Amino acid sequence: MRTMISGAAACALWLVVPAAAVAQGMAPPGAAAQPSATEAAQTSGNKVTRMEGGKVLYTVVDGYNVDSNTMNGFRAWRAAACDRCHGANQQGLVGPSLIESLKTLTKDQFITTVREGRLEKGMPSWKSSKMVTQNIDNLYAYLKGRSNGDITRAHVQELKQ
Ligand code: HEC
Repeated sequence: MRTMISGAAACALWLVVPAAAVAQGMAPPGAAAQPSATEAAQTSGNKVTRMEGGKVLYTVVDGYNVDSNTMNGFRAWRAAACDRCHGANQQGLVGPSLIESLKTLTKDQFITTVREGRLEKGMPSWKSSKMVTQNIDNLYAYLKGRSNGDITRAHVQELKQ
């Protein structure tokens, strides 16, 4: 009887420790550096809703039907012709693959890079583009969805509500 109880306790402990370690890892403000892929995705059938910072980042059905914000991100991507340098499928061309970049880039780093550019390295500043600055969150959501593999094709369409 005794051994059974302590066995159960040990088992419970074993389960608790990794969860606590994960929670701790996410606690500091620097946790923004953690790829948001660690945040929960709710999946039901062919629908994925991904959260970041406690808010819905995007919803995608069948890999290409996206919520209207994410759709606006795709529109900004097209309007700014980011694909000239990053490729039609974000796979990289003269600019790096954003599929890869968004796995490690934080949202803040993304926003700073897109706004300010990296002029000496060939990445333009988009500060003066209203289309880009007004849709920067949406652009991030779209590219993050591509990077996470939830948006399975670059050319998305708006989800019918
Ligand atoms: C004229 C070519 C060009 C265009 C157009 C362009 N980029 Fe870039 N971009 C680059 C280059 C080159 C780099 C790499 C800069 C470096 O080496 O740090 C880059 C870097 C980036 C990065 C950082 C990647 C990383 O791993 O750090 C992001 C994010 C990005 N671009 C997003 C965009 C978005 C969004 C658009 C459209 C609004 C866009 N780019 C349009 C050339 C371009």
